[in-house]
Amino acid sequence: MKRKWWHDKVAYQIYPKSFLDTNGDGIGDLKGIISKLDYLKELGIDIIWLSPVYESPFVDQGYDISDYYKIAEQFGTMDDFDILVAEMKKRGMHLIMDLVVNHCSDKHEWFQKALADPDGPYAGYFYFREGKDGKAPSNYRSYFGGSAWTKVPGTNKYYLHTFAKEQPDLNWENPVVRKKIYEMINWWLDKGIDGFRMDVITQVSKTVDKNGKLPGEDGCEIEDYPVGEEGYSSPFPWCSDGPRIDEFLAEMRREVFEGREGYMNVGEAPGITPARNEHVTDPKNGELDMLFLFDHVGIDQEGSKWNTVPFEVKNLRARLADQQEAVKNAGWASLFFCNHDQPRVVSRWGNDTDRESRELSAKAFGMLLHMHRGTPYIYEGEELGMTNAHFTTLEQYRDLESINGYRQRVEEAKCQSAESMMAALALIGRDNARTPMQWDASRYAGFTAPDAATEPWIGVNPNHVEINAAEEFDDPGSVYSFYKKLIAMRHNNATIATGEWNLVAADSEQVYSFTRTSGDDTILVIVNLTDRTAQVPAEVAQLLEDGVGESQVLLSTYDAAHSVKSVARGELARWEGVVIQL
Ligand code: GLC
Ligand code: CA
Repeated sequence: MKRKWWHDKVAYQIYPKSFLDTNGDGIGDLKGIISKLDYLKELGIDIIWLSPVYESPFVDQGYDISDYYKIAEQFGTMDDFDILVAEMKKRGMHLIMDLVVNHCSDKHEWFQKALADPDGPYAGYFYFREGKDGKAPSNYRSYFGGSAWTKVPGTNKYYLHTFAKEQPDLNWENPVVRKKIYEMINWWLDKGIDGFRMDVITQVSKTVDKNGKLPGEDGCEIEDYPVGEEGYSSPFPWCSDGPRIDEFLAEMRREVFEGREGYMNVGEAPGITPARNEHVTDPKNGELDMLFLFDHVGIDQEGSKWNTVPFEVKNLRARLADQQEAVKNAGWASLFFCNHDQPRVVSRWGNDTDRESRELSAKAFGMLLHMHRGTPYIYEGEELGMTNAHFTTLEQYRDLESINGYRQRVEEAKCQSAESMMAALALIGRDNARTPMQWDASRYAGFTAPDAATEPWIGVNPNHVEINAAEEFDDPGSVYSFYKKLIAMRHNNATIATGEWNLVAADSEQVYSFTRTSGDDTILVIVNLTDRTAQVPAEVAQLLEDGVGESQVLLSTYDAAHSVKSVARGELARWEGVVIQL
């Protein structure tokens, strides 16, 4: 495999609204990010993925863009942005921006023009369709609850939005749309950024027939998609990996990236299988460099996102193993547990109920993720072991998916009780990751000044008095210091960066173990992902027959001496993870 610059790099996602507010309006901003570049550099971060900072009505927190060429005034100015780019370059860091082109905001000029003339050229930028018998063209559900169609007032026409009604889907079948998007991407690259995280990019090709009809429309022959408990059928099957996706991605590569150097693109790819990941990320196919797959974070949901089921080590292992196996010979993996759409892993699958459990389990999941083969992504605050929000009332939530989900399921379809929905929100709702970054123990966690005129846009987690960067920075035992070591290991150890990955002991109920090898060099990773003592699996014990000395322990979630004893005894303590040089 040809070595790429990001193969030994670590990325960090910034959710700008919640990172650092410098002007006391309760909203994070670009100046705040600039002021923390040294913090990120010190941690070891190479790449920053910046969630959207474009002009937006913020219905979906910036994932609804009304002008692709402007910076949202809440976040600052284009000058601030240019300074950010320059300051990152000075520090040898790479910036990738969010690219949201499956849809735009309903306030975008294109959509406004389409609404004004639903038979005119701009309507062809979107999916406008005639209603059927006074109803929507089909019964598709949007990902954020309710119908995926909204009626254009005063007409019998509807437009498609697979997300919120304020996020009309762009019609990629229309070559003019694609051309405008490529122009815009080129414009940003010319400003000196290094690539993109592409929002739901694998959904831009919808399954349309030769007449441009979507599944379920009159005259379009399709198999029946099942109707779910809310009375709608999911659009997922016909837009998650559409028929023209490889063609569009390759075209984008040709029109935008070819001839440029040093860029990197990661696509958000819900519904893409590991095997398809290999195809899309294999350089010879000229599409994307990496994808975010989601099967491994879906293991605690069944049927609906809001129907949660218990975490099981074997399910996580099976999904991650499939992802790793698929890119053994070609392509590349991205590694993540947390982002702005996922809850905090320490609360989700770890134990955040007391300090010791929280620190141990945060380290265990951190070790597990970072020792895999691929490019790890850290989501802001993950390096501190930040937890879920633990909100208890609907009023505390800001996320439209959470709020709509509640309305739809509890109040309209009545398919879930209020108690169970509130529990699901507290476990996996998106706002769990969006509370302000915890910089210190002061009133607003250092996110905004303690005497700021305006409260933060979303509640600060009260546990910031204990969990915060200032507290953890100089503490060698902190989650922060542990993440710093994980990052350094990827930078300094070629086997960890690119060595082959092989599963060991595929049937343990508690322990996830694997090796990384390159040439004669073998590293063994064993992590007990439960709150209980676990047996070292027999296959692992065999690899350790000759005994393990402290100098062989590259990292432990406890300490080297502790893990040497554990291994000798054949028993790992709760959340005990250890990386061993064989
Ligand atoms: C992606 C984003 C998510 C957003 C959605 C619609 O999944 O990560 O935050 O709501 O796309 O843009
Ligand atoms: Ca601000």
